[in-house]
Amino acid sequence: MAQREQVRTSGSGVLAHFGHMDEQPVTITNGEGAYVYDEDGAEYLDFLSQLYCVNAGHSNDAIREAMGEQLDRIQYVSSAKNNDARTELADRLVEIAPQSLEDVFFSISGSEANEAAIQIARQSQDASTVLTRWRSYHGGTYATAGLAGDSASRLSVEAHASTSGSVKFLPPFGGADAAFDADSPAELTEQSLDHLEYVIRNQGPDSIAALLTELVAGSSGAFTAPPGYFEGVRELCNEYDILLIADEVITGFGRCGEWFGSHTENLEPDMITFAKGVTSAYAPLAGVLMRSELGDALREETMDVGQTFAGNPVACAAGLAAIEEYDDGLIENVRALAPVLQEQLASLEDHDVVCDVRGRGFHWGIEFADPATDEPIVDPRVEDGHNSIEDVLAGMQEKGILIGGGRPMIQITLSPPFCIDEDDIDRTVSALDETIGEVFG
Ligand SMILES: Cc1ncc(COP(=O)(O)O)c(C=O)c1O
Repeated sequence: MAQREQVRTSGSGVLAHFGHMDEQPVTITNGEGAYVYDEDGAEYLDFLSQLYCVNAGHSNDAIREAMGEQLDRIQYVSSAKNNDARTELADRLVEIAPQSLEDVFFSISGSEANEAAIQIARQSQDASTVLTRWRSYHGGTYATAGLAGDSASRLSVEAHASTSGSVKFLPPFGGADAAFDADSPAELTEQSLDHLEYVIRNQGPDSIAALLTELVAGSSGAFTAPPGYFEGVRELCNEYDILLIADEVITGFGRCGEWFGSHTENLEPDMITFAKGVTSAYAPLAGVLMRSELGDALREETMDVGQTFAGNPVACAAGLAAIEEYDDGLIENVRALAPVLQEQLASLEDHDVVCDVRGRGFHWGIEFADPATDEPIVDPRVEDGHNSIEDVLAGMQEKGILIGGGRPMIQITLSPPFCIDEDDIDRTVSALDETIGEVFG
């Protein structure tokens, strides 16, 4: 009820996603590069690329022109026909993806791409279980929220429907919420792989179709895996004949400094699901990149379901142009500035309440804990009450910088557009330093 009132008081009939709207949502009317502007002309540095997706920045001329040209030719072609923009984008995606992935099944959103990937895996393996990590996020549909290890997403669909087919395993994370008690990254790799093998064996390998995982955690806080972890996951999947699906909805298209997180984590998955950054959020587009054996099987034994707007030509034109923009210096900028961002963010650990700073490229999470107990200050999974992390987000917005809250909200997330410069980083980190001081004293 409180949330409905919140939306109404914002003066709008638009209902919120993700359970809430900001307490004082700004009305954003314009954007330019890494900046957005509200209806009164106030400027905000968009240090979350809205929702981890406007990777090339706002109002990019090349992407807008490509979309306009496509619109002038044809705006929609059914998936039963070929379309030149769609074919060209598929070819370009295969060029930039890990070598083993040669076919593309287009979709519209990240949720639907993950749904498609698990349908394909289940059909191909003739098995139904999908392994996913605790604290993961894979989408908001019934199937994908059911796959989520993040309790808020999962419980909101499980409350009124039975979701099935997913078995969770523990992520190889450090931080205050760590599930393993390892003294070194190597020990963490070993413990988490032993645990995964235990889950696979006890679940029954023949019943498992796929393992679906983010490579660098997305909204759950930008956790990276310790060295050797994904190599071990790949080996286990090979040994037990399980398809390995990388959810690259956030990590795809340069976010971590290479085309895909599979490159930064040195992994050859069987499928990659992508969305968000593929068009830099200029139009909804998503898809599944897969090995040719899986693509060939789909050609022979079709899936009799589909989506009207999958692979829309205007979105595909945006995708082609966005990829050119990434190739033409934007990913290079991520690589050049990631060490600066990392070093500056690490300095925030001088605050006693900051217990962990982690990430890769332009995707970072900062976790907070009570210095006296090393526990979250308020853990929304198990307790109600005012969460000071909301105050950090509000304080940053007041200073003209937009950042994100992680799921669970024991952390904040930063995922800026690739067109930021060093001054944008300086400004954000000094505003964070000041805001964390103001909120936690
Ligand atoms: C890792 C990951 N997978 C899937 C999704 C779902 O994508 P969409 O919101 O486009 O359905 C998201 C969305 O944030 C995500 O972060």
